[in-house]
Amino acid sequence: MGYSAGARIRPVGIRDPFLITDEQLLQKANEIRERAYAPYSGFKVGAALLCADGTVFTGVNIENAAFGPSVCAERTAFFTAISEGYRDFVKIAVTCDKEYCSPCGVCRQVMSEHAPDLEILMGNLQGTFKRVSIGDLLPEGFSLLEDS
Ligand code: THU
Repeated sequence: MGYSAGARIRPVGIRDPFLITDEQLLQKANEIRERAYAPYSGFKVGAALLCADGTVFTGVNIENAAFGPSVCAERTAFFTAISEGYRDFVKIAVTCDKEYCSPCGVCRQVMSEHAPDLEILMGNLQGTFKRVSIGDLLPEGFSLLEDS
């Protein structure tokens, strides 16, 4: 049986963004959150990124002893999706063990570059969430591109 490099990533999804509910996307973020590597902060974050064709890529925060190389769950999800050839993003669910997880400034800049109309579900382990747009979180984000 042949496997391509991309197959190992196993994006989950039902190939139609309208068929996955906000609750399901938050649940995927909560499931993947268990895989976070956060021995320094103890703060685990999970993200589930919905693409326009319904594919979902997930991500977790991955910390490092040198701190600087640490990466947030949102960027892990975005970079995984982009490196797999996906460029059209609809929505991201981000979950953590507090009321809700508000993305950091660096992640806002990354999300703004790749998904200027992104919807963000900031959620928690109980399944409740706050809905915002990337424009709400980062008005006047930096851009070098004419059309964004
Ligand atoms: N973190 C995320 O992964 N996403 C966020 O939206 C906020 C913060 C991570 C970074 C670090 O590993 C830990 O949470 C504590 O800051």
